[in-house]
Amino acid sequence: MSRDIKNALAEMGYAGACVGREGTGNMKKAVSESKTEQVYQVRPEHLNGAGRLFGGKLMEWIDELAGLVGIRHSQRDVVTASVDNLKFIRGAYLKDLIALVGRVTFVGKTSMEVRVDTYVESLDGTRKPINRAYLTLVAVDADGNPTEVPGLLVKTEAERAEWEAGMKRREMRMLRRTEGF
Ligand SMILES: CC(C)(COP(=O)(O)OP(=O)(O)OC[C@H]1O[C@@H](n2cnc3c(N)ncnc32)[C@H](O)[C@@H]1OP(=O)(O)O)[C@@H](O)C(=O)NCCC(=O)NCCS
Repeated sequence: MSRDIKNALAEMGYAGACVGREGTGNMKKAVSESKTEQVYQVRPEHLNGAGRLFGGKLMEWIDELAGLVGIRHSQRDVVTASVDNLKFIRGAYLKDLIALVGRVTFVGKTSMEVRVDTYVESLDGTRKPINRAYLTLVAVDADGNPTEVPGLLVKTEAERAEWEAGMKRREMRMLRRTEGF
């Protein structure tokens, strides 16, 4: 665990969970409180010329789900600031069941990183990953200005690992933003 997170834990008096330091001071929410799942079936209008699920349709579903996760965490309207690490691992085909699972992995002051995993689900319920994406959502007030979000209670080892990786991804995003690449 990084020194920053350990310090945050000590400051907040938490032993078994760590907390997003930059989120709104008094309010913290668990990852599970905004975790959201959605299932679609691939229909003919979702296919591209090669007979596979059109990537743009999947991106729409991913963006929509990430937005819902952001709304549930922040209890605010949200806008998508960026999408990165969008990896198409394998294709999906007509009638496939597509399951998307979104969860908050990191929060800043007004932004939330949301990871969306997409799977093809077999009829027996087995899931094979086809895509993973990280999106940054920003909570906005009634005037469209960024507004603070609750901190994130990180309870499991997996959530903690995501949080630490999220810090690194945020640094990369900030660098891209300032350097313009
Ligand atoms: C996202 C947006 C609100 C940020 O506004 P801004 O004036 O740049 O505000 P700030 O510089 O204060 O940044 C606000 C937060 O967004 C984050 N952010 C801004 N641009 C970002 C980017 N390209 N990638 C990731 N995060 C970004 C900042 O890091 C900051 O996070 P923090 O408060 O947790 O530290 C603004 O750029 C916007 O409205 N973009 C268009 C969004 C949109 O229309 N999306 C498509 C439809 S939903």
